Amino acid sequence: MYKYVKKLNYPINIKKKNLKMAKCLITQLGGPAGELGAALRYFSQKFAMPDDKGRSLLNDIATEELGHCEMIGTIFRQLVKDATPEEIKSTGFSSYFTDHGLGVYPVDASGNPFSALTFNSTGDILADLSEDMAAEEKARATYENLIDLADDEDLIGPLLFLRQREIVHFNRFKELYDYYKENMQKDPRITN
Ligand SMILES: [Fe+2]
Repeated sequence: MYKYVKKLNYPINIKKKNLKMAKCLITQLGGPAGELGAALRYFSQKFAMPDDKGRSLLNDIATEELGHCEMIGTIFRQLVKDATPEEIKSTGFSSYFTDHGLGVYPVDASGNPFSALTFNSTGDILADLSEDMAAEEKARATYENLIDLADDEDLIGPLLFLRQREIVHFNRFKELYDYYKENMQKDPRITN
């Protein structure tokens, strides 16, 4: 069961419009290292975890990633707020605008729509947790690319926060991976 808390994970208050940045940032919703894929990956994989420790970690992180989807959507809307047709045409935003207006839609920075093929759920705990660690590193790298492209402190703050969370998630997945790897031989309940 889920309960929704009507509050962002981190405050977002961007005052400077930036359509070019919005077009790049949206990849962290619908792209290959985006938050939507992360949420669905961990949510899907949690069912095959062998114990509460694994299920609960994957569920916690999946839920947090959904909160990050909300942050990306909020940032995007603030970056495109009050965009004029001239601005849309001159910033390369027209292709996104044609299908989605100024609404939020999960695509990557090149406009490819979100695909569940960006992740897997194998039922093999070590394979899945290895994917999860790699996914967190890829998300961190993507946030670093976005931070390099950003020039507004109001945007850089939330991006730094999101980058930091990827590092925390990587560490938590690594702990779980190491725990299962070590205990698989000793504890018959922990199997693939
Ligand atoms: Fe993450």
